[in-house]
Amino acid sequence: MHFFRYRNGRLYAEDVPVKEIVEAYGTPLYIYSHGTLLRHFRAYDEAFDGVPHIICFALKANSNTSILRLLARNGGGADVVSGGEVFRALKAGIPSRRIVYAGVGKTEDEIRYALKSKILMFNVESESELLEINRIAGTMKVEAPVSLRINPDIDPETHPYISTGLRKHKFGIPMEEAFEYYKLAGSLKNTKIVGIHKHIGSQITKVSPFVDALKKTLLLVDELEKRGVDIQYLDIGGGLGITYKDEEPPVPFDLARNLLPLLRGRGLTIIVEPGRSIVGNAGILVTRVLYVKEGEDKDFVIVDAGMNDLIRPSFYGAYHHIQPLERRRRKSILADIVGPICESGDFLGKEREMPDVKPGECLAVMSAGAYGFTMSSNYNSRPRAAEVMVKGKDFALVNKRETYKDLVQGEAVPDFI
Ligand code: LLP
Repeated sequence: MHFFRYRNGRLYAEDVPVKEIVEAYGTPLYIYSHGTLLRHFRAYDEAFDGVPHIICFALKANSNTSILRLLARNGGGADVVSGGEVFRALKAGIPSRRIVYAGVGKTEDEIRYALKSKILMFNVESESELLEINRIAGTMKVEAPVSLRINPDIDPETHPYISTGLRKHKFGIPMEEAFEYYKLAGSLKNTKIVGIHKHIGSQITKVSPFVDALKKTLLLVDELEKRGVDIQYLDIGGGLGITYKDEEPPVPFDLARNLLPLLRGRGLTIIVEPGRSIVGNAGILVTRVLYVKEGEDKDFVIVDAGMNDLIRPSFYGAYHHIQPLERRRRKSILADIVGPICESGDFLGKEREMPDVKPGECLAVMSAGAYGFTMSSNYNSRPRAAEVMVKGKDFALVNKRETYKDLVQGEAVPDFI
Protein backbone atom coordinates (compact mmCIF):
# COMPACT_ATOMS: atom_id res chain seq x y z
CA MET A 1 0.00 0.00 0.00
CA HIS A 2 1.42 3.38 -0.99
CA PHE A 3 0.43 6.87 -2.08
CA PHE A 4 1.88 7.00 -5.59
CA ARG A 5 -1.20 6.81 -7.81
CA TYR A 6 -2.42 7.96 -11.20
CA ARG A 7 -5.12 10.62 -11.28
CA ASN A 8 -6.50 11.46 -14.69
CA GLY A 9 -3.51 9.78 -16.27
CA ARG A 10 -0.88 11.69 -14.27
CA LEU A 11 1.26 10.10 -11.57
CA TYR A 12 0.87 11.76 -8.18
CA ALA A 13 2.95 11.52 -5.05
CA GLU A 14 0.24 11.96 -2.43
CA ASP A 15 -1.53 15.14 -3.64
CA VAL A 16 1.21 16.51 -5.87
CA PRO A 17 1.78 15.64 -9.53
CA VAL A 18 5.25 14.06 -9.71
CA LYS A 19 5.95 16.25 -12.74
CA GLU A 20 5.66 19.35 -10.57
CA ILE A 21 8.28 18.04 -8.15
CA VAL A 22 10.59 17.12 -11.00
CA GLU A 23 10.25 20.61 -12.49
CA ALA A 24 11.42 22.02 -9.16
CA TYR A 25 14.31 19.66 -8.42
CA GLY A 26 15.34 17.88 -11.63
CA THR A 27 16.28 14.25 -12.19
CA PRO A 28 17.37 11.69 -11.10
CA LEU A 29 15.22 12.32 -8.05
CA TYR A 30 14.15 10.19 -5.11
CA ILE A 31 10.68 11.06 -3.84
CA TYR A 32 9.36 9.76 -0.52
CA SER A 33 5.79 9.77 0.71
CA HIS A 34 5.33 10.91 4.33
CA GLY A 35 1.89 9.29 4.55
CA THR A 36 3.17 5.93 3.32
CA LEU A 37 6.08 5.92 5.74
CA LEU A 38 3.88 6.74 8.68
CA ARG A 39 1.28 4.19 7.68
CA HIS A 40 3.88 1.42 7.43
CA PHE A 41 5.54 2.35 10.70
CA ARG A 42 2.19 2.45 12.49
CA ALA A 43 1.20 -0.88 10.97
CA TYR A 44 4.14 -2.45 12.82
CA ASP A 45 3.58 -0.50 16.00
CA GLU A 46 -0.09 -1.46 16.15
CA ALA A 47 0.48 -5.06 15.11
CA PHE A 48 2.83 -5.64 18.05
CA ASP A 49 0.61 -3.74 20.47
CA GLY A 50 -0.09 -6.88 22.47
CA VAL A 51 3.47 -7.05 23.87
CA PRO A 52 6.03 -4.49 25.06
CA HIS A 53 7.99 -3.65 21.93
CA ILE A 54 10.26 -1.23 20.11
CA ILE A 55 10.15 -0.89 16.32
CA CYS A 56 13.81 -0.28 15.46
CA PHE A 57 13.93 0.87 11.84
CA ALA A 58 16.93 -0.58 9.95
CA LEU A 59 18.85 2.51 8.86
CA LYS A 60 20.67 0.63 6.13
CA ALA A 61 17.46 0.68 4.09
CA ASN A 62 17.27 4.47 4.14
CA SER A 63 19.05 6.79 6.53
CA ASN A 64 17.77 10.17 5.38
CA THR A 65 17.48 12.44 8.42
CA SER A 66 13.91 13.51 7.69
CA ILE A 67 12.73 9.92 7.46
CA LEU A 68 14.47 9.09 10.73
CA ARG A 69 13.04 12.21 12.40
CA LEU A 70 9.54 11.23 11.33
CA LEU A 71 9.94 7.74 12.79
CA ALA A 72 11.59 9.10 15.95
CA ARG A 73 8.64 11.45 16.53
CA ASN A 74 6.34 8.46 16.35
CA GLY A 75 8.20 6.35 18.87
CA GLY A 76 10.56 4.55 16.49
CA GLY A 77 13.99 3.24 17.37
CA ALA A 78 16.96 2.33 15.19
CA ASP A 79 18.76 -0.81 14.11
CA VAL A 80 22.26 0.35 13.18
CA VAL A 81 25.33 -1.38 11.76
CA SER A 82 28.03 1.28 11.92
CA GLY A 83 29.26 4.28 13.87
CA GLY A 84 27.93 6.46 11.08
CA GLU A 85 24.46 5.02 11.58
CA VAL A 86 24.69 5.62 15.35
CA PHE A 87 25.55 9.23 14.52
CA ARG A 88 22.67 9.59 12.07
CA ALA A 89 20.15 8.03 14.44
CA LEU A 90 21.13 10.32 17.32
CA LYS A 91 21.26 13.38 15.10
CA ALA A 92 17.74 12.66 13.88
CA GLY A 93 16.51 12.53 17.47
CA ILE A 94 16.20 8.79 18.03
CA PRO A 95 16.81 8.28 21.77
CA SER A 96 19.96 6.24 22.46
CA ARG A 97 17.90 3.81 24.53
CA ARG A 98 16.09 2.85 21.35
CA ILE A 99 19.22 2.05 19.35
CA VAL A 100 20.41 -1.53 18.79
CA TYR A 101 23.73 -2.20 17.07
CA ALA A 102 24.37 -5.31 14.90
CA GLY A 103 27.05 -6.21 12.34
CA VAL A 104 29.95 -8.66 12.25
CA GLY A 105 32.73 -6.09 12.04
CA LYS A 106 32.36 -3.39 14.68
CA THR A 107 35.62 -1.47 15.12
CA GLU A 108 37.09 -0.20 18.39
CA ASP A 109 36.16 3.40 17.56
CA GLU A 110 32.61 2.38 16.73
CA ILE A 111 32.25 0.37 19.94
CA ARG A 112 33.57 3.28 22.02
CA TYR A 113 31.25 5.72 20.33
CA ALA A 114 28.23 3.47 20.86
CA LEU A 115 29.15 2.93 24.52
CA LYS A 116 29.63 6.65 25.04
CA SER A 117 26.24 7.22 23.45
CA LYS A 118 24.65 4.69 25.85
CA ILE A 119 22.81 2.66 23.22
CA LEU A 120 20.31 0.01 24.29
CA MET A 121 22.43 -2.98 23.26
CA PHE A 122 25.06 -4.50 21.02
CA ASN A 123 23.95 -7.50 19.01
CA VAL A 124 27.15 -9.48 19.25
CA GLU A 125 28.12 -11.78 16.39
CA SER A 126 31.26 -13.64 17.57
CA GLU A 127 33.34 -14.59 20.58
CA SER A 128 36.16 -12.26 19.62
CA GLU A 129 33.74 -9.36 19.30
CA LEU A 130 32.30 -10.15 22.73
CA LEU A 131 35.76 -10.10 24.28
CA GLU A 132 36.63 -6.90 22.49
CA ILE A 133 33.47 -5.12 23.67
CA ASN A 134 34.22 -6.29 27.20
CA ARG A 135 37.80 -5.00 26.99
CA ILE A 136 36.78 -1.62 25.60
CA ALA A 137 33.98 -1.21 28.15
CA GLY A 138 36.55 -2.02 30.83
CA THR A 139 38.86 0.76 29.72
CA MET A 140 35.87 3.12 29.80
CA LYS A 141 34.78 1.80 33.21
CA VAL A 142 31.28 1.05 31.95
CA GLU A 143 29.15 -2.04 31.51
CA ALA A 144 28.25 -2.87 27.90
CA PRO A 145 24.69 -4.18 27.37
CA VAL A 146 24.95 -7.17 25.06
CA SER A 147 22.64 -9.48 23.28
CA LEU A 148 23.93 -12.45 21.32
CA ARG A 149 22.93 -12.85 17.71
CA ILE A 150 22.18 -16.47 17.15
CA ASN A 151 22.06 -18.12 13.78
CA PRO A 152 18.96 -20.33 13.80
CA ASP A 153 19.89 -22.18 10.59
CA ILE A 154 16.59 -21.43 8.87
CA ASP A 155 16.26 -20.90 5.14
CA PRO A 156 14.37 -17.66 4.46
CA GLU A 157 13.94 -18.66 0.79
CA THR A 158 15.16 -15.38 -0.60
CA HIS A 159 18.04 -14.15 -2.80
CA PRO A 160 21.32 -15.73 -1.60
CA TYR A 161 23.01 -12.33 -1.13
CA ILE A 162 20.38 -11.21 1.37
CA SER A 163 19.90 -14.48 3.19
CA THR A 164 21.70 -14.48 6.55
CA GLY A 165 20.28 -17.11 8.86
CA LEU A 166 21.90 -20.28 7.57
CA ARG A 167 24.85 -22.03 9.15
CA LYS A 168 27.04 -21.26 6.14
CA HIS A 169 26.63 -17.49 6.57
CA LYS A 170 29.01 -15.19 8.39
CA PHE A 171 26.31 -13.95 10.75
CA GLY A 172 25.66 -14.80 14.37
CA ILE A 173 26.70 -17.74 16.50
CA PRO A 174 25.54 -21.32 16.00
CA MET A 175 22.59 -22.41 18.15
CA GLU A 176 24.50 -25.30 19.69
CA GLU A 177 27.23 -23.02 20.94
CA ALA A 178 24.88 -20.43 22.37
CA PHE A 179 25.11 -21.68 25.97
CA GLU A 180 28.87 -21.46 25.92
CA TYR A 181 28.70 -17.91 24.64
CA TYR A 182 26.15 -16.87 27.22
CA LYS A 183 28.25 -18.46 29.94
CA LEU A 184 31.26 -16.55 28.72
CA ALA A 185 29.30 -13.29 28.48
CA GLY A 186 28.00 -13.82 32.01
CA SER A 187 31.50 -14.31 33.35
CA LEU A 188 32.87 -11.10 31.87
CA LYS A 189 33.17 -8.09 34.15
CA ASN A 190 32.19 -5.36 31.75
CA THR A 191 29.36 -6.89 29.75
CA LYS A 192 25.80 -7.33 30.88
CA ILE A 193 23.56 -9.81 29.08
CA VAL A 194 20.28 -8.17 28.21
CA GLY A 195 18.93 -10.12 25.29
CA ILE A 196 18.99 -12.37 22.30
CA HIS A 197 18.89 -11.49 18.61
CA LYS A 198 18.20 -13.19 15.29
CA HIS A 199 17.73 -12.00 11.73
CA ILE A 200 17.43 -14.56 8.97
CA GLY A 201 17.31 -12.53 5.78
CA SER A 202 15.56 -9.90 3.74
CA GLN A 203 12.68 -9.74 1.25
CA ILE A 204 11.07 -12.79 2.88
CA THR A 205 7.61 -13.34 1.43
CA LYS A 206 6.27 -16.03 3.76
CA VAL A 207 5.46 -16.13 7.46
CA SER A 208 6.74 -19.66 8.07
CA PRO A 209 10.51 -18.92 8.20
CA PHE A 210 9.82 -16.24 10.84
CA VAL A 211 7.73 -18.66 12.89
CA ASP A 212 10.27 -21.48 12.62
CA ALA A 213 13.16 -19.23 13.56
CA LEU A 214 11.25 -17.77 16.49
CA LYS A 215 10.30 -21.20 17.82
CA LYS A 216 13.94 -22.27 17.74
CA THR A 217 15.00 -19.07 19.46
CA LEU A 218 12.38 -19.42 22.18
CA LEU A 219 13.54 -22.93 23.00
CA LEU A 220 16.91 -21.41 23.62
CA VAL A 221 15.44 -18.58 25.71
CA ASP A 222 13.67 -21.16 27.88
CA GLU A 223 16.86 -23.12 28.35
CA LEU A 224 18.80 -19.98 29.17
CA GLU A 225 16.25 -18.91 31.74
CA LYS A 226 16.40 -22.34 33.33
CA ARG A 227 20.12 -21.79 33.70
CA GLY A 228 19.56 -18.44 35.34
CA VAL A 229 20.32 -16.20 32.35
CA ASP A 230 17.90 -13.29 32.38
CA ILE A 231 16.74 -12.32 28.89
CA GLN A 232 14.90 -8.98 28.77
CA TYR A 233 14.94 -8.22 25.06
CA LEU A 234 14.13 -10.56 22.23
CA ASP A 235 15.12 -9.00 18.91
CA ILE A 236 13.39 -10.85 16.09
CA GLY A 237 15.17 -8.95 13.31
CA GLY A 238 13.63 -7.55 10.15
CA GLY A 239 13.20 -9.04 6.72
CA LEU A 240 9.55 -8.82 5.74
CA GLY A 241 9.29 -8.55 1.96
CA ILE A 242 7.35 -6.09 -0.18
CA THR A 243 5.62 -6.22 -3.55
CA TYR A 244 7.99 -5.32 -6.36
CA LYS A 245 6.23 -7.27 -9.07
CA ASP A 246 3.68 -9.90 -8.11
CA GLU A 247 4.85 -11.02 -4.67
CA GLU A 248 2.15 -11.24 -2.04
CA PRO A 249 4.12 -10.92 1.16
CA PRO A 250 2.52 -10.99 4.59
CA VAL A 251 1.88 -7.59 6.18
CA PRO A 252 3.06 -6.74 9.73
CA PHE A 253 -0.34 -7.73 11.07
CA ASP A 254 0.00 -11.25 9.56
CA LEU A 255 3.45 -11.56 11.03
CA ALA A 256 2.31 -10.43 14.48
CA ARG A 257 -0.77 -12.66 14.39
CA ASN A 258 1.50 -15.66 13.96
CA LEU A 259 4.22 -14.59 16.36
CA LEU A 260 2.31 -13.01 19.24
CA PRO A 261 0.81 -16.26 20.55
CA LEU A 262 4.38 -17.48 21.02
CA LEU A 263 5.51 -14.26 22.66
CA ARG A 264 2.72 -13.22 25.03
CA GLY A 265 3.12 -13.61 28.77
CA ARG A 266 6.87 -14.06 28.69
CA GLY A 267 7.75 -10.66 30.07
CA LEU A 268 10.06 -10.01 27.14
CA THR A 269 10.36 -6.71 25.30
CA ILE A 270 10.21 -7.49 21.60
CA ILE A 271 12.40 -5.62 19.17
CA VAL A 272 11.55 -5.67 15.48
CA GLU A 273 14.01 -4.35 12.88
CA PRO A 274 12.09 -3.68 9.67
CA GLY A 275 13.76 -1.69 6.91
CA ARG A 276 12.41 -2.48 3.46
CA SER A 277 8.80 -3.01 4.54
CA ILE A 278 8.64 0.49 6.02
CA VAL A 279 10.40 2.50 3.34
CA GLY A 280 10.53 0.36 0.19
CA ASN A 281 7.16 1.24 -1.29
CA ALA A 282 7.29 4.72 0.25
CA GLY A 283 9.83 5.89 -2.33
CA ILE A 284 10.24 6.19 -6.08
CA LEU A 285 13.15 7.18 -8.27
CA VAL A 286 12.26 9.52 -11.11
CA THR A 287 14.48 9.50 -14.14
CA ARG A 288 14.35 11.29 -17.49
CA VAL A 289 14.51 9.56 -20.86
CA LEU A 290 17.56 10.89 -22.71
CA TYR A 291 17.44 8.86 -25.89
CA VAL A 292 15.59 5.95 -27.40
CA LYS A 293 17.74 3.70 -29.52
CA GLU A 294 15.80 1.39 -31.77
CA GLY A 295 17.11 -2.12 -32.18
CA GLU A 296 16.10 -5.12 -34.22
CA ASP A 297 14.74 -7.28 -31.41
CA LYS A 298 14.29 -4.65 -28.77
CA ASP A 299 14.83 -0.97 -28.12
CA PHE A 300 17.03 0.70 -25.56
CA VAL A 301 15.46 3.43 -23.48
CA ILE A 302 18.44 5.37 -22.19
CA VAL A 303 17.68 7.29 -19.00
CA ASP A 304 19.61 9.66 -16.75
CA ALA A 305 19.65 7.34 -13.69
CA GLY A 306 22.19 4.57 -13.61
CA MET A 307 23.39 1.73 -11.45
CA ASN A 308 25.15 4.30 -9.29
CA ASP A 309 21.72 5.71 -8.38
CA LEU A 310 19.91 2.39 -7.96
CA ILE A 311 22.11 -0.68 -7.93
CA ARG A 312 19.48 -3.30 -7.07
CA PRO A 313 18.65 -4.42 -10.64
CA SER A 314 22.35 -4.81 -11.56
CA PHE A 315 23.45 -6.33 -8.28
CA TYR A 316 20.62 -8.68 -7.34
CA GLY A 317 18.77 -8.92 -10.64
CA ALA A 318 15.99 -7.15 -8.76
CA TYR A 319 12.77 -6.16 -10.46
CA HIS A 320 11.43 -2.61 -10.11
CA HIS A 321 8.32 -1.60 -11.95
CA ILE A 322 9.01 1.29 -14.34
CA GLN A 323 6.21 3.51 -15.56
CA PRO A 324 5.80 6.87 -17.28
CA LEU A 325 4.53 9.92 -15.40
CA GLU A 326 1.87 10.41 -18.10
CA ARG A 327 -0.39 7.47 -18.79
CA ARG A 328 -2.15 7.68 -22.13
CA ARG A 329 -3.06 5.41 -24.98
CA ARG A 330 0.03 4.67 -27.06
CA LYS A 331 1.70 1.76 -28.75
CA SER A 332 3.93 -0.44 -26.70
CA ILE A 333 7.56 -1.38 -27.25
CA LEU A 334 9.89 -4.05 -25.93
CA ALA A 335 12.88 -2.36 -24.33
CA ASP A 336 15.76 -2.46 -21.90
CA ILE A 337 15.76 0.60 -19.69
CA VAL A 338 19.43 1.41 -19.27
CA GLY A 339 21.56 4.06 -17.58
CA PRO A 340 24.44 6.17 -18.88
CA ILE A 341 27.18 4.18 -17.12
CA CYS A 342 29.84 2.45 -19.19
CA GLU A 343 28.98 -1.12 -18.27
CA SER A 344 26.52 -3.54 -19.79
CA GLY A 345 25.37 -4.37 -16.26
CA ASP A 346 23.98 -0.86 -15.96
CA PHE A 347 20.26 -1.32 -16.35
CA LEU A 348 17.10 -0.57 -14.42
CA GLY A 349 14.89 -2.99 -16.29
CA LYS A 350 15.33 -5.66 -18.95
CA GLU A 351 13.05 -6.69 -21.80
CA ARG A 352 10.10 -4.75 -20.56
CA GLU A 353 6.98 -4.32 -22.53
CA MET A 354 6.31 -0.66 -21.98
CA PRO A 355 4.66 2.41 -23.53
CA ASP A 356 6.47 3.99 -26.42
CA VAL A 357 8.21 6.68 -24.34
CA LYS A 358 9.93 9.68 -25.87
CA PRO A 359 13.14 11.55 -25.01
CA GLY A 360 12.48 14.30 -22.48
CA GLU A 361 9.70 12.55 -20.63
CA CYS A 362 10.13 11.11 -17.17
CA LEU A 363 9.71 7.61 -15.80
CA ALA A 364 9.06 6.50 -12.24
CA VAL A 365 11.04 3.54 -10.93
CA MET A 366 8.73 2.19 -8.28
CA SER A 367 9.46 0.71 -4.83
CA ALA A 368 12.87 2.36 -4.71
CA GLY A 369 12.69 3.76 -1.18
CA ALA A 370 14.70 0.94 0.42
CA TYR A 371 18.34 0.26 -0.46
CA GLY A 372 18.08 2.85 -3.21
CA PHE A 373 19.76 6.06 -2.13
CA THR A 374 21.72 4.32 0.68
CA MET A 375 23.44 2.05 -1.85
CA SER A 376 24.06 4.81 -4.37
CA SER A 377 27.57 5.92 -5.26
CA ASN A 378 29.57 8.39 -7.29
CA TYR A 379 30.67 5.83 -9.85
CA ASN A 380 31.53 7.46 -13.19
CA SER A 381 31.82 10.70 -11.17
CA ARG A 382 28.11 11.13 -11.07
CA PRO A 383 26.82 13.38 -8.29
CA ARG A 384 24.28 11.56 -6.15
CA ALA A 385 20.59 12.32 -6.69
CA ALA A 386 18.46 14.74 -4.71
CA GLU A 387 15.78 13.50 -2.29
CA VAL A 388 12.38 15.07 -1.69
CA MET A 389 9.62 14.29 0.77
CA VAL A 390 5.94 14.85 0.03
CA LYS A 391 3.21 15.28 2.59
CA GLY A 392 -0.25 15.90 1.18
CA LYS A 393 0.05 18.98 -1.03
CA ASP A 394 3.44 19.97 0.38
CA PHE A 395 6.84 18.85 -0.70
CA ALA A 396 10.36 19.77 0.33
CA LEU A 397 13.93 18.91 -0.46
CA VAL A 398 15.33 16.57 2.21
CA ASN A 399 18.75 16.13 0.63
CA LYS A 400 20.15 18.34 -2.06
CA ARG A 401 21.69 17.05 -5.24
CA GLU A 402 25.47 16.71 -5.05
CA THR A 403 27.56 19.05 -7.17
CA TYR A 404 30.74 18.43 -9.15
CA LYS A 405 32.58 20.24 -6.35
CA ASP A 406 31.23 17.76 -3.80
CA LEU A 407 32.84 14.99 -5.84
CA VAL A 408 36.39 16.20 -5.14
CA GLN A 409 35.75 17.82 -1.77
CA GLY A 410 37.95 15.52 0.31
CA GLU A 411 40.72 15.02 -2.21
CA ALA A 412 44.20 16.49 -1.93
CA VAL A 413 47.29 16.48 -4.16
CA PRO A 414 50.52 15.85 -2.18
CA ASP A 415 53.74 17.73 -3.01
CA PHE A 416 55.49 14.64 -4.41
CA ILE A 417 53.16 14.49 -7.38
N1 LLP B 1 18.31 -6.35 10.80
C1 LLP B 1 19.48 -6.83 10.35
C2 LLP B 1 20.44 -7.38 11.31
C3 LLP B 1 19.77 -6.81 8.98
O1 LLP B 1 20.93 -7.29 8.54
C4 LLP B 1 18.82 -6.28 8.08
C5 LLP B 1 19.09 -6.23 6.63
C6 LLP B 1 17.62 -5.76 8.59
C7 LLP B 1 17.39 -5.83 9.97
C8 LLP B 1 16.56 -5.14 7.73
O2 LLP B 1 16.04 -6.03 6.81
P1 LLP B 1 14.76 -5.63 5.93
O3 LLP B 1 13.58 -5.46 6.86
O4 LLP B 1 15.09 -4.36 5.23
O5 LLP B 1 14.62 -6.76 4.99
N2 LLP B 1 20.60 -4.43 -0.01
C9 LLP B 1 19.67 -5.53 -0.06
C10 LLP B 1 19.10 -5.85 1.31
C11 LLP B 1 20.14 -6.13 2.36
C12 LLP B 1 19.56 -6.45 3.71
C13 LLP B 1 20.62 -6.52 4.74
N3 LLP B 1 20.15 -6.68 6.09
C14 LLP B 1 18.59 -5.23 -1.10
O6 LLP B 1 18.64 -4.18 -1.73
O7 LLP B 1 17.70 -6.07 -1.31
